[in-house]
Amino acid sequence: MSDLESINRYLRESQPSHLSQLEDLLRIPSVSADPKSKPAVQQAAECVRNTLEKAGLRAEILPTAGPPLVYAESPPVPGKPVALVYGHYDVQPPDPLDKWISPPFEPTIRNGNIYARGATDDKGQALTHVFGAAAWAATGQPLPLQVKFLIEGEEEVGSEQLEKMLPSLAKKLAADVVVISDSSQYAQGQPAITYGLRGIAYFELRLHGPKHDLHSGSFGGAVHNPAIALAKLLASIVDDDGRIQLPGFYDNVQSLSEAERGMWHGLNFDDQAFASQIGVPQLKGERGFTTLERRWARPTFDVHGLMGGYQGEGGKTIIPAWAGAKISFRLVPNQQPAEVTKQFRQFLDQHQPTGVRVELIELHGGSGVVVDPQSPYVAAAQLALATAFGKSAVLIREGGSIPIVAQMVQHLKADVLLLGWGLDDDGAHSPNEKFHLADYYRGIHASSHLWHHLAQVSRS
Ligand code: BES
Ligand code: ZN
Repeated sequence: MSDLESINRYLRESQPSHLSQLEDLLRIPSVSADPKSKPAVQQAAECVRNTLEKAGLRAEILPTAGPPLVYAESPPVPGKPVALVYGHYDVQPPDPLDKWISPPFEPTIRNGNIYARGATDDKGQALTHVFGAAAWAATGQPLPLQVKFLIEGEEEVGSEQLEKMLPSLAKKLAADVVVISDSSQYAQGQPAITYGLRGIAYFELRLHGPKHDLHSGSFGGAVHNPAIALAKLLASIVDDDGRIQLPGFYDNVQSLSEAERGMWHGLNFDDQAFASQIGVPQLKGERGFTTLERRWARPTFDVHGLMGGYQGEGGKTIIPAWAGAKISFRLVPNQQPAEVTKQFRQFLDQHQPTGVRVELIELHGGSGVVVDPQSPYVAAAQLALATAFGKSAVLIREGGSIPIVAQMVQHLKADVLLLGWGLDDDGAHSPNEKFHLADYYRGIHASSHLWHHLAQVSRS
């Protein structure tokens, strides 16, 4: 008989230690997109390994051709399901730096929130499960099921190494259920279990014009300005109704069932409050769909950055030699990144602007997923969330991508539990990213109970 009361007491007393261990990890600038951050990425892996070991788990670093994987496990419990916690210790670039109130890698507490790059995405959320599992050994109780941990360092750039190694790691990672906290609650205090994520296909598009920048007075009117060609090309990818113009793009898009639409309608999403939270005068998206449908279950196209031409102070009259953009398509289940890449190349061939050379660089991709919300593991998670949040969780899908999830479903044949402790306004990928400390502690609490409930599920 497990003693959850003593775990609760232990967790309340351990809050200062759980906070300082999170701060230690947040101080490490493990930006996977930036090659200069390689030593920091390595250092973050070691920090995670040490934290897992301190939590009483057997931990190791698994080298890859890129950022290392960190793996740990508790002892096997025969007859019980095996849970695999997945998370990531890498973070997005902190730019724009001048918009941070406190520096991105100097964790700072204001109004009950901890501010730092990676606070919610995903260092804070990933650690909740380390401490949720550690609470058992710390109160003299063996975990009621085996818990494995896989914390990687390349999620934010597409999990290329892990994807390559997954087939050979399948035995080591074998699990009945994969537990991931790298998403959000539906609203503050309203827990959610996420049963779907979008996929992504990410590119850099470059348009090359004259062999060097030209005086726009002498040459303007004679050559195609690559920045104008780029602007037109980008604008032609999506029409005014929010429909993406690639040939065959919607062919495999899984449509929403009426039941799903009805369930989401019942979530009473407030468009007006959402618009004012993000500071826009009005929302915009694909015609014929609600905001939640557009964010969770419809494919989209976005521009993430524009490059080229003069970016310094004052004016400079040139026709730039080139212009480029970082862009991506968010995908929904049944759309494959490789297929969309083909469609995009076809689109670019058909819309080749005159007088410039088009270059498309494929950066990374991942498929979307929908998992079974009726799984017994979802029911078990409901019990843990209800205890920690005092409220039962709603079932949602989300628009972000965790590229490895679809691969894990395929290679490990495991159920997936996406339990988000974050909030929509945590500022993931934005300046002043935060994690509400109450959510951090609630996440640890929920995790500690989760193991108890998952252990009650009979293996199918
Ligand atoms: N934590 C996010 C995924 C996420 C975001 C899930 C919002 C649910 C809601 C993850 O770390 C992330 O940002 N992934 C990237 C992956 C991409 C760069 C390959 C993303 O979605 O942009
Ligand atoms: Zn994340």
